[in-house]
Amino acid sequence: MDIQKILGKHRPEMDNLINILHDLQDASPRNYLPEESLREVARYLNTTLSAVYGVVNYYTMFSTKPRGKYIIRLCQSPICHMMGSETALESVKKLLGTDLYEPTADGLFSIELSECLGICDVAPSMMVGEEIYGHLSETVISKMISEIREREKTGNIKNTCDG
Ligand code: FES
Repeated sequence: MDIQKILGKHRPEMDNLINILHDLQDASPRNYLPEESLREVARYLNTTLSAVYGVVNYYTMFSTKPRGKYIIRLCQSPICHMMGSETALESVKKLLGTDLYEPTADGLFSIELSECLGICDVAPSMMVGEEIYGHLSETVISKMISEIREREKTGNIKNTCDG
């Protein structure tokens, strides 16, 4: 990742901090913001590292730890919860052999929780990159995982890293 190139796309103003962080995280193959990048951001914006960390730590969409290339965001808001999001979460964990916030061994997936995704009519639901999945069952989840793995294998890669 060329940090300077990304920084150069933004004027060095604090108002641009969130956009800069998004761009840096999107450019990271592991979907995260390493400390060295945050130091560069602080220098560029003429602010302190702790001020940058304050923003990074405030927003759940940012991570300072490596994550999977594809982040599975499972809705945990009340309607999805009532419709079985806990069961869906257990299915995802079982199918991927990992736990919440722990990237899979191949670095492809991470599982995170999310607030309402705005598609309560198909609860329980989840989002992977820009794609939405509803009426979650083990079959739906398994199909999504297989399709992404297949895409990666065949090189038909769709970049869904969205931070
Ligand atoms: S409660 Fe899950 S999408 Fe709205």
